[in-house]
Amino acid sequence: MIDPREVVSREKFAAIKYIIPVVSGKGGVGKSVVSTALSLALADRCKTGLLDLDFWGASAHILLNASNEFPEEEKGILPEEIGGVKFMSVAYYTQDNPLPIRGREYSDAFLELMAVTRWDDTECLVIDMPPGMADPFLDLLQYVKNGNFLIITTSSILSSNIVSKTLKILKELDLKIFGLIENMCLTEDGNSRIRELANSFNVKHLGNIPYYQDLDINLGSWQDFLSTDFFQKIKEISTRLEL
Ligand SMILES: Nc1ncnc2c1ncn2[C@@H]1O[C@H](COP(=O)(O)OP(=O)(O)OP(=O)(O)O)[C@@H](O)[C@H]1O
Ligand SMILES: [Mg+2]
Repeated sequence: MIDPREVVSREKFAAIKYIIPVVSGKGGVGKSVVSTALSLALADRCKTGLLDLDFWGASAHILLNASNEFPEEEKGILPEEIGGVKFMSVAYYTQDNPLPIRGREYSDAFLELMAVTRWDDTECLVIDMPPGMADPFLDLLQYVKNGNFLIITTSSILSSNIVSKTLKILKELDLKIFGLIENMCLTEDGNSRIRELANSFNVKHLGNIPYYQDLDINLGSWQDFLSTDFFQKIKEISTRLEL
């Protein structure tokens, strides 16, 4: 039997011009800070939304200091607008409590959230993805056919090895990739290994982001986040996205 939410979800995604899933495969490489900063940066250019699909480790609501209120309901759920970005996260419903769910339950919550959220005229939807290639990643591949993926890696071989597997899957499925960002670089030029990785998959290396020691003290308020060098760097990189 067809789940009507699947149809609605596919239609909702298809109606959005640019969907930018921020993925890696590897955990802790900066997907949440990059996706949140990117959505704030893109909000100057187009009607932008941010969807946090990391139900186990939701983070974007902290970076955006989202309210604790349930979002308004009006023929669907209206995302809260923060810094010009329409934002949706499971954190509104869990009230920041743990959500110990298994794969099938994840898929169910994903479909529910997608089916009820009103993105309306959103042109650009950035998606913060959890680490790994399990159900969230597979659900994304199943329902989002028009994504322009953004890949995040650190310079570490432990990251590039996993990222290469993610790239392999995306390339095999012939999905569009905006490019790759090397994050938390300890040298200005980054690591040649990452450039080679990008070249080997014919993917754009969009830039290196330094490791900023003072980033953490500015997390927790979107206004302070905007004042960081990290945000400026993402803003600069965002101009290289072919929107
Ligand atoms: N360029 C950077 N400079 C300094 N700290 C950074 C930088 N990028 C990310 N961080 C820090 O690294 C940590 C991990 O970042 P983040 O949570 O965004 O990673 P993630 O890939 O989303 O992790 P997960 O896989 O758990 O979702 C955070 O504490 C973040 O502040
Ligand atoms: Mg994250």
